[in-house]
Amino acid sequence: AKNVGILAMDIYFPPTCVQQEALEAHDGASKGKYTIGLGQECMAFCSEVEDVISMSLTAVTNLLEKYKIDPKQIGRLEVGSETVIDKSKSIKTFLMQIFEKFGNTDIEGVDSTNACYGGTAALFNCVNWVESSSWDGRYGLVVCTDSAVYAEGPARPTGGAAAVVMLVGPDAPVAFESKLRGSHMSHAYDFYKPNLASEYPVVDGKLSQTCYLMALDTCYKCLCSKYEKLEGKQFSLSNADYFVFHSPYNKLVQKSFARLLFNDFMRNASSVDEATKEKLGPFSTLSGDESYQSRDLEKFGALADTMHRQVSQQLAKPLYDAKVQPSTLIPKQVGNMYTASLYAALASLIHNKHSELDGKRVVLFSYGSGLTATMFSLKLSEGRHPFSLSNILSVMNVAGKLKSRHEFPPENFVEVMKLMEHRYGAKDFVTSKDSSLLAPGTYYLTEVDSMYRRFYAKK
Ligand code: ACO
Repeated sequence: AKNVGILAMDIYFPPTCVQQEALEAHDGASKGKYTIGLGQECMAFCSEVEDVISMSLTAVTNLLEKYKIDPKQIGRLEVGSETVIDKSKSIKTFLMQIFEKFGNTDIEGVDSTNACYGGTAALFNCVNWVESSSWDGRYGLVVCTDSAVYAEGPARPTGGAAAVVMLVGPDAPVAFESKLRGSHMSHAYDFYKPNLASEYPVVDGKLSQTCYLMALDTCYKCLCSKYEKLEGKQFSLSNADYFVFHSPYNKLVQKSFARLLFNDFMRNASSVDEATKEKLGPFSTLSGDESYQSRDLEKFGALADTMHRQVSQQLAKPLYDAKVQPSTLIPKQVGNMYTASLYAALASLIHNKHSELDGKRVVLFSYGSGLTATMFSLKLSEGRHPFSLSNILSVMNVAGKLKSRHEFPPENFVEVMKLMEHRYGAKDFVTSKDSSLLAPGTYYLTEVDSMYRRFYAKK
């Protein structure tokens, strides 16, 4: 199989959301902290009738219907999620309900979990399957589904919720350049979920920012050196048209891109112009190398912050606007969607630039705390209907979905969080079954019975 990659995609996020400006005021944070400090605009959250299973049921059903895919044509189904509903039974098995109806139970794959990286692991599994000798000619299907919720405190505004679904096969408009990939995997306690009675993570926010940036540097170096071995010339920012990042909040994406420019400068990449070299000169002695050797993460974090202020604002801004900004729409509007975040950013790029993407190279950075990270490359082409960028654009209907949301005051959002703290891991309850805010065709939770079995209905 050639040009294996994403043939089709769709995104679902809850219609319930809270404005960051309102949340800021409600939380007593200084004005601009969430909107400018974190760079976020709005945050989606699951009401008591939605969860990661209902969102993925909705997303998968929509994709199959809208692209007219026969459910029998799916041969592999992989789910990436870090929202634990059951410690044994995979989310994938819930989704089998869709396929069993059509007599298709011959579908490989289970769930992949490691913080926000599970979706990328799932996607790689599907791509590898289609490229392998065990491929039976059918499609792979990848689902990234998460509800990101945090305890009260500084991390709470970095929540969000969504499910992204991607159909994988050959001759894709979003094709993998599989040789162009760099990973960094390591043991860290930056963000984890050891308390099985709570949906909330334990998070060392500052450490997680540093781990993210450090993984970014390492992955970029790795990808650059692989490119150089393959092509016999240096890789730099100018070799890719767009950079798409896992987006816990937008400010970190801004800092990340500035970091990549700094990397180019440190490697003395030919693409870095004289003005940039001059301005970055004083920072060359503060290079990241020392901080790696000493493993002095805090110092590295402080350096990254300095770099951000010095570099991001002055130097990287015009490049950021051209190469990164088009992918930031949904992450800013919906929040951190964990496994779905990176692919919601890719969906934003397609939404904003669909007609200009033919022949373009897009580099993606996937990060999951704990930690696992990969930078990889995609080559885009318009493709052929129904697997074309213009059809993906119209199926996803991003603008329409964003516009038809319902804003809730922060008090209601907090009430839902409190209710869900009791509902998490609970049995023997029925929900309000109130589907009035949901679009037709949306799945929702109706009941969890005395045996913890979950029941869903379709609006
Ligand atoms: N106006 C403008 N900017 C402001 C204001 C204001 N009124 N107040 C603060 N800021 C800025 C700060 O200067 C800082 O910006 P800088 O980093 O450029 O200096 C930014 O807002 C954040 O403020 P801090 O005080 O540094 O951090 P805070 O205590 O709010 O915590 C954090 C932020 C750590 C991101 C927290 O939200 C968190 O823990 N989130 C979850 C973890 C996370 O998302 N990690 C990322 C990778 S791992 C993952 O994907 C889960």
